[in-house]
This record gives sequence, C-alpha cells and structure tokens, in this order.
Amino acid sequence: MSNEAKDSQFEYCVSCLGAGYVGGPTMAMIALKCPEIKVIVADISKKQIDKWNSDHLPIYEPGLEEIIKATRGRNLFFTSDCTQAIIDADMIFVSVNTPTKKYGIGKGKAADLKNWELAARDIARVANAPKIVIEKSTLPVRTAHSMLRVLHANANEKKISFSVLSNPEFLAEGTAMRDLAKPDRVLIGGNTSKEDQHAVERLVWIYEHWVPKERILTTNLWSSELSKLVANAFLAQRVSSINAISALCEQTGADVSEVARAVGMDGRIGDKFLQASVGFGGSCFQKDILNLVYICETFNLKEVAAYWQQVITLNDYQKERFAQRIIKSLFNTVADKSIAILGFAFKKNTGDTRETAAVYICKHLLHEHAKISIFDPCVTSEQIINDFNEYEALPDGFVFEKCVTIHKSAYDACKNAHAICVLTEWDEFKELDYKKIYDSMVKPAFAFDGRNILDLEKLHKLGFETYGIGKPNVESVDMTKVSTV
Ligand code: UGA
Repeated sequence: MSNEAKDSQFEYCVSCLGAGYVGGPTMAMIALKCPEIKVIVADISKKQIDKWNSDHLPIYEPGLEEIIKATRGRNLFFTSDCTQAIIDADMIFVSVNTPTKKYGIGKGKAADLKNWELAARDIARVANAPKIVIEKSTLPVRTAHSMLRVLHANANEKKISFSVLSNPEFLAEGTAMRDLAKPDRVLIGGNTSKEDQHAVERLVWIYEHWVPKERILTTNLWSSELSKLVANAFLAQRVSSINAISALCEQTGADVSEVARAVGMDGRIGDKFLQASVGFGGSCFQKDILNLVYICETFNLKEVAAYWQQVITLNDYQKERFAQRIIKSLFNTVADKSIAILGFAFKKNTGDTRETAAVYICKHLLHEHAKISIFDPCVTSEQIINDFNEYEALPDGFVFEKCVTIHKSAYDACKNAHAICVLTEWDEFKELDYKKIYDSMVKPAFAFDGRNILDLEKLHKLGFETYGIGKPNVESVDMTKVSTV
C-alpha cells in the first residue's frame, strides 16, 4: 500500500519524538483507542526502533505486548525517520529524555533540555504546515515559553503557526497500561489564545475517546508544567516521610507497617505511598525534586528549596542506613563474604534500574570488599553490567567478574551466601523455599528485607537472623529488651 493510500484511511495523524518508557506505551494506548488516528513513534536510535518493530520490545510493561500486537502496522508505526514523522503529523508529542544536568550551570539539579531543544529545532526546520507541539517529557516550569521562541524564531519565514501545550504523563512503570487506560486525570495546559485553545480542544478530543470528560483537566501552561513536578515531589515526600518514621520504629519497637496502616486509614491522609522501603528509585522522583529545588533556588526561595531537598537527603540516608545495617550485623565486616541480592529493579514489574537503591547498596558493600551475587527476574545481565560500569566511584582494583556474579535463579544466587537482601518487592520472592535457601547458606545466615515482603517470624524459626525496615527485632519483641527513649 502506498503511503498516500495508507494515509487516506486516517482522519488525523499524531507522532511522538522519543520511543522510550513514556512515548512507546502512551502512543500504543492512543493507537488502540483511536483507530481512525494514525500514530507514528519516531526515535533517532534505529536500534530502539528495531526493537519496537520486533517480538522483543525494548521495555517490559504488563499488557503492552498485546496492545502492540493489535495495533502495530494497523495505525501504529515505529520509525527512525524523525523528519517524515514531523511532516506527516498534525500533532507532535515530544517525549525525549530530560535527565539531570551533569555539567555547567545547574549541574546535578537542573534538567538537561538539550534533547528537547534539538527536537524543537527539528520541528521548526522540517514543518511545512501548522503543528500542535505537546510537551510530554517532564520539563521545568516555563519551558513551553522557550520552546515557542525557538519554534517561531526558526519558522518565521515559512509563516507557520505552532501551538505548544503541556500534557504531562502520570503513568507509573509496571502499571503503565492500566494507568493509561484509566488515568486519575489527564492534564492539559495551554495558553488562552484562540489558536492555542483550539489546540487544547484537539488534544481533549483524542483523550475523550476513552477518558471520561470530568477527568480531563485543562489549565494554563505553567500550572500544568508545575503540577507534574509537584505530583512527583508529593509522592516521594510520602515515601521519605514513612522511611524517616521507619528509623524511629526500629529504635522504639513500633512496627512501621502498623503505623502506616493506622495513619493511612485517616481518609485525609490516605493509605497509598506509605510503604517503607530501602529507598525510592526510578528515573523521575529524584530528578524532578532536584529540578524543583533548582527552580526554587533560581527564584531565591531558599527555605522552599531546602524543604524539598530534605526529601532526597532522607532517601540517601535510608539507603545508607540499610547498607550500614548489613555490615554491622555481619560482625562489622563483609570482606570476602558473599551477599545475595534479590531484586535489582527500582520496583517490581519492571526491568528498569534507573536510580535503583540496589546499585547504591551493592556499591557500598563492594567498597567493603564483599562479593555480590545478584538475581532479578526481569533485569538483564547486560543492564546490570552497564549500571556498574556507569559508577565512577568503584573501589580500587574492582574487577566485575571477581566481585559480582549474576544468576538465573534466586536459589543459585543465595547458595553459599552469608546474607540475603531483598531489594525489589517481586511477588515471587514471597514464595521462595526459604528452608532450602537457609540450608544452602553459610551460618549464621542473615536475611535483610528492604521491602518488608518476607515473613520474618517464619524465617527466624528456620534459623535466619532477620532484619526488616522499621520492624521490631524478632527476638526482642519482648518489651523488656526494647531500648527506651
Ligand atoms: C512515578 C510516579 O508514580 C508517576 O505518577 C509518574 O508519572 C512517574 O514517576 C514519572 O514521572 O514518570 P515510577 O517512578 O514509575 O512513577 O514509580 P513509583 O511507583 O512512583 O515508585 C517510585 C519509587 O518509590 C520506587 O522505587 C518504589 O519502590 C518506591 N516506593 C513507592 C516506595 O518505596 N514506597 C511506596 O509506598 C511507594
């Protein structure tokens, strides 16, 4: 079928620049729900596009494969021809990555907008008709304004109009398809000009195919951009809050899960994001908070910046505390001891390891000359090796093969280990045969649960020395043994 004939079937065309965790699943959902719309996902990485066009998708998300199978080649197309994707589209989502800057002004805090600006310049250069440009990547407040300037400055002689809208994504990894199918809200920010309001209506029309109208929220551009950062900051803040309390629980004999339940049953507080853990990870929480901190500092709002910075500080403290606890429990030395790491992803149901607490814990243990054996049901060995290579601060003389082994089963990883550490809450870790694991370990055998998913009492009865985040020591539930404040 010629391109023209193929296009004539479609009423409207949207494209997305960036075929990553957000772009791929979001466009797949639009293609599924809007069969009359042609959806093109473009990326400069041919390797990434080849994966999207293969049976081995570049990301793992429950339910994604089925949707890709139903839509790919029908109204969903993956291409590395970004120019054509811009020309063909009426509406262009920009979903390129915006990592924390590693250089220059704002280093370590501000978002690196290099990719976003390049995308805007490409659109301005290539576009031959009016385009609606949608910010899908998380961006600092007022980025849309800069983007409009880039677009207009480069497209003036062509007399083309551009509208820039903000439409932040709120999907979480591991539940992306569910979040996309039934979002709590869809947020669309746009200027008040007639043209921009028309663009907003167009985007609302797309979402209305499956999202109830009352869940589609339209705001001004800046509110939309800021809401994305604030939503992630609030979520991360809850995790840091409960993690702060977990440290206090360990000192007092309170159980953090009981405290979280009691507190979360207050309807005003709610029970979500109160699961104490070894520390939050993922590509967004830290990045977005740092970005928020940077914006506040830029406006000289020092107290506000310090307030949000503390969420990150507490998260670092939690990871450090966990690593220290392992070392202290193992008689203050892990040198040449084998530590089994169960779970490497930053949370369950994803193979993503960005900012995962596991890398931090492993690095800490490696500095103490431990031997690490890792099992994760979803993270590839290639990814784990990359993650270690990316660390600048590995101990002197570190040789990956000598210090780290990656296993295909949890049982293999735990064999001859001095301790096991659960760092990702994979459901399958709850069902392991811990008697078998215990029998294969060096004694005394330790179990450190960084996700509070194990039955520590049961493990204790098997002979394990156990530790759970914010959990009373199993032996010292007896109040006489609990330290007093
Ligand atoms: C997060 C937000 O939840 C999404 O709404 C947002 O769209 C996304 O960032 C983004 O900006 O892209 P995600 O990073 O995929 O999603 O994962 P979360 O489920 O939020 O978990 C983040 C981290 O917090 C994980 O390491 C998780 O294990 C940890 N966490 C979460 C806890 O330790 N305790 C909890 O109670 C909840």
